[in-house]
Amino acid sequence: MKIAFFDAKDYDRDSFVRANKDEKYEISFYETRLTKDTCRLAEGSDAVCVFVNDDVNREVIDELVKMNIRLIALRCAGYNNVDIEYAYGKIHVVRVPAYSPYAVAEHAMALLLTSVRRIHKAYIRTKDFNFSLNGLTGFDLHGKTVGVVGTGKIGRIFIDICRGFGMNVIAYDKFPAKDSGIEYVTLDELWARSDIISFHCPLTDENRHMVNAETIAKMKKGVVLINTSRGALIDAEALLEGIKARQIGAACLDVYEEESNVFFHDYSGHIVDDDILARLISMPNVIVTSHQAFLTEEALSNIADTTLGNVEEFFRDEYSVNEVCYKCPQLKECKQDHNKKCF
Ligand code: NAI
Repeated sequence: MKIAFFDAKDYDRDSFVRANKDEKYEISFYETRLTKDTCRLAEGSDAVCVFVNDDVNREVIDELVKMNIRLIALRCAGYNNVDIEYAYGKIHVVRVPAYSPYAVAEHAMALLLTSVRRIHKAYIRTKDFNFSLNGLTGFDLHGKTVGVVGTGKIGRIFIDICRGFGMNVIAYDKFPAKDSGIEYVTLDELWARSDIISFHCPLTDENRHMVNAETIAKMKKGVVLINTSRGALIDAEALLEGIKARQIGAACLDVYEEESNVFFHDYSGHIVDDDILARLISMPNVIVTSHQAFLTEEALSNIADTTLGNVEEFFRDEYSVNEVCYKCPQLKECKQDHNKKCF
């Protein structure tokens, strides 16, 4: 079984080589992303393995199908970077629905604590033997209201962590969980009541830019936003304006809507062209990590095991429990519901 592995980083190689120790798969690791121009590298492969910033658009899908590649194996949970509607009926798509929801939820809390207790500033100060406390005043999380958007695997763990801190939790989910003990509210109520808002829902056409100038105006002055989900949930330009207007108290971003141009690469010696990102990073109350929330030993090992398991299952049984298609969110329409492949 041959797999063409795109956007490969050292940590991917390590975990996949470990998971493939019996060398059942012939994996070709390519540092480049999968694009129309790099597709040809996959010639002769059975599957391609891609990550969050590989843009699997119509052209790429057509090229893969022409080369008789039957499977796109995403080594991530989100699949907004694949045109799954166009892929339907042409090429199957599998993903890793959960690799460590704890990794992401814990990272969201790490960002929040760093931000509200100014750890990022204190770290730099003490490294320089500056022991002044001026400007480092934070606030207690205890008693604050956190609004959680998306109460799936990650959102629920984040809620548990917040409850451990004595925070009041309210939530919005398009499909609220029954009997969960979670207080669900409308989005407008969530914007109005939350001191902190954390996003844990997938990116869809419907919720792209759900944080925009209009919704920011509905939020509490000084609100802290945490996004470990997908960048385009937030209109970055509106976020910047909200910060400049002091309406937004802080932003903790592990994702950014134009991240595919910069994240995962070292641009320390370069001039960054993205003025919005540069301005956001320059703000004292903005913390950016480069899509790092998933990056734990446990998650990497689960990603590698599940991805290779998906490939094995698909080619053995012509079915994978982790297949996704554009009909999957409405389970009634998708055959997956009946324990079959999506088409
Ligand atoms: P999940 O599928 O378990 O939960 C997602 C929840 O969002 C579900 O309860 C669903 O009903 C809800 N939802 C769907 N559409 C919604 C909408 N329009 N508004 C509000 N809620 C909506 O997914 P999981 O594992 O909790 O992951 C959540 C997201 O986290 C993923 O979609 C992915 O984008 C992101 N993620 C980020 C990572 C990182 O490293 N930063 C790593 C893994 C996931």
